[in-house]
Amino acid sequence: MNIAQLQQEIIKLKKEKDVCVLAHSYQAREICEIADFTGDSYKLSVDASKVTNKTILMCGVRFMAETCKILSPDKTVILAAPMAGCAMADQMDKALISQVKENFPDYTVVAYINTTAELKTICDVCVTSSSAVKIVNNIDSKNILFIPDCNLGAHVAAQCPDKSIKLLNGGCPIHACVTVDDVKAAKALHPDAELLVHPECVPAVCELADYIGSTSGIMDYAVKSDKKEFIIGTEISIAEHLQYMCPDKKFHILSLKLICPNMKATTLVDVYNCLAGTGGEEIELDDDTIRDAKRCIDEMIRLGG
Ligand code: 13P
Ligand code: SF4
Repeated sequence: MNIAQLQQEIIKLKKEKDVCVLAHSYQAREICEIADFTGDSYKLSVDASKVTNKTILMCGVRFMAETCKILSPDKTVILAAPMAGCAMADQMDKALISQVKENFPDYTVVAYINTTAELKTICDVCVTSSSAVKIVNNIDSKNILFIPDCNLGAHVAAQCPDKSIKLLNGGCPIHACVTVDDVKAAKALHPDAELLVHPECVPAVCELADYIGSTSGIMDYAVKSDKKEFIIGTEISIAEHLQYMCPDKKFHILSLKLICPNMKATTLVDVYNCLAGTGGEEIELDDDTIRDAKRCIDEMIRLGG
């Protein structure tokens, strides 16, 4: 089957089998085209919790599928590409953070949503890249232990000067690879373009940006802006999607290092196989994990709302 035929079969099967397909904005265009919802990790899990379909198929990475399962425990949640982890979420586990917490007993533990469900069970509140500053400002405690991303943590710390924020040495190896030299090279090639970067990039790169924001934030900014040319400092799919959305503007990739192999693991054939019942992995979390991890996500909704 060619791409168009596969897409037709997928659209037919998802109706027949009552499946809602979610695609993170880092997914390929042909997958986003057949999805019921696209967006960032938080938006997708909230979208999924509102639909009536019995089954959710996540085209993204494992922590996103887990977040859907936590918010929709009665639904069947399937991860389309079982090999799709997140290099940042896999950096820190419950055992490590339990130990660290012993050294910082009076700190509120703030976990980026890019963490495993198991780790969320021992954290106090979750944040996303778009909500982190607001939520940290709304936390009563002055002392914050921010995990796992030290770059997003540094971005938050700079904007929350009243808080004492401890960071650990974690982060996204894809975004953290981008250097100031990469920025200089991209600006030399596209001197009229604005630079939009994700806060998972290192602070020296963020300092050179015209806008710092989440994947959705970057897309909204570029769509609404009067400017005509942009360098996109996050996963390269975002530049491609924006080019389709805004044909009168120009979008450039900041660096070829910004390709997330985990996000690129899902193919249209994986989606088809999941719907045909021969692929994917059902996410299974025990009741205690769902209950304790949900507390952390509920706090995010309460403090970020
Ligand atoms: P969002 O939460 O903005 O979707 O980002 C997820 C991610 O993995 C960024 O690298
Ligand atoms: Fe994880 Fe980085 Fe890939 Fe995002 S880009 S899914 S943080 S490895």
